[in-house]
Amino acid sequence: MAKPAEPLLERLAARQLVVVTGKGGVGKTTVAALLGLALSRIGRRVLLLETDPRESLHQVLGIEPSGGKVVPAGPRLWAQNLQAPAVMEGLVREKMPFGLGSVADRILAHPVYQHFVEGAPGLKETALLGHAYRIVHHGGRPKVDTILLDAPATGHGLSLLTAPGLLADAIRDGQLGEITAEIAAFVADPARCALVVATLAEEMPVQETLELIALLQEKLGRGPEAVVVNALYPPCGVGAKGPSEALALWRERRQLNERELRRLKAGWKGDRIELPLLPVDRSPALLEDLLPFLGGARP
Ligand SMILES: Nc1ncnc2c1ncn2[C@@H]1O[C@H](COP(=O)(O)OP(=O)(O)O)[C@@H](O)[C@H]1O
Ligand SMILES: [Mg+2]
Repeated sequence: MAKPAEPLLERLAARQLVVVTGKGGVGKTTVAALLGLALSRIGRRVLLLETDPRESLHQVLGIEPSGGKVVPAGPRLWAQNLQAPAVMEGLVREKMPFGLGSVADRILAHPVYQHFVEGAPGLKETALLGHAYRIVHHGGRPKVDTILLDAPATGHGLSLLTAPGLLADAIRDGQLGEITAEIAAFVADPARCALVVATLAEEMPVQETLELIALLQEKLGRGPEAVVVNALYPPCGVGAKGPSEALALWRERRQLNERELRRLKAGWKGDRIELPLLPVDRSPALLEDLLPFLGGARP
């Protein structure tokens, strides 16, 4: 198992799945792409999995939209936009013997199936994690060492991680029960799966981050591997020029960031990465400019 004294990137590199959670808009996709890029640069073969139906990962990476396909995004780096219903559909089709595609169509269109997928608690989350599990365990093309999962923005990252365990408790028998238990064990294993929380140094996001960490400890018995504090306003220098209102706003934002960072540090003693707010659009250039900051602030 990875040792806590190792630098963050090395610890993440030892994992097969790194789940990046955080509320929408905090820079979750940017952080996932940044970590994926950094891991690919140190020799890991990385797949970035985006779950948001509004694709934006491709813009960060400067590639074509994935549209559900695995697309190359650089040396040892791939990206895929993945929707839970599509994963479920893939599973149904795969289980149908050759030539029975029309049966699969009928199952997929059946109201009972639709109801099952929508209604079964944790099924969609488990399907997403199961997709990642299959890629790293059963191989595939391209072969990848680490999957970076840009987790859905809705709800806590916790519900994603606890879903397979809850589902495994509900379905104990048969092939589905077996697979679900395997996925639950995978996600619960700190040697194989890590969690990173992305946040802003603002009141609500910091509050939610501290709550999420407490819940992770309670429900999974471990915290995240790191908290990434994104989009920090740089200090407003003495000679800074601009309209006085703008400078006042800048100072105010910076003070808020500093106050919330102090609160975060008081409640979270683990690894913390601080990323500045850069005047760069969503693009590969933004990632390149953020990469040097991954070395990481220590607690
Ligand atoms: N550190 C940063 N500096 C500058 N712009 C950033 C930074 N982090 C994120 N952004 C920009 O903020 C927007 C939201 O980021 P994104 O990663 O898509 O957030 P999320 O996935 O949490 O919704 C994007 O336009 C992105 O380019
Ligand atoms: Mg996003």
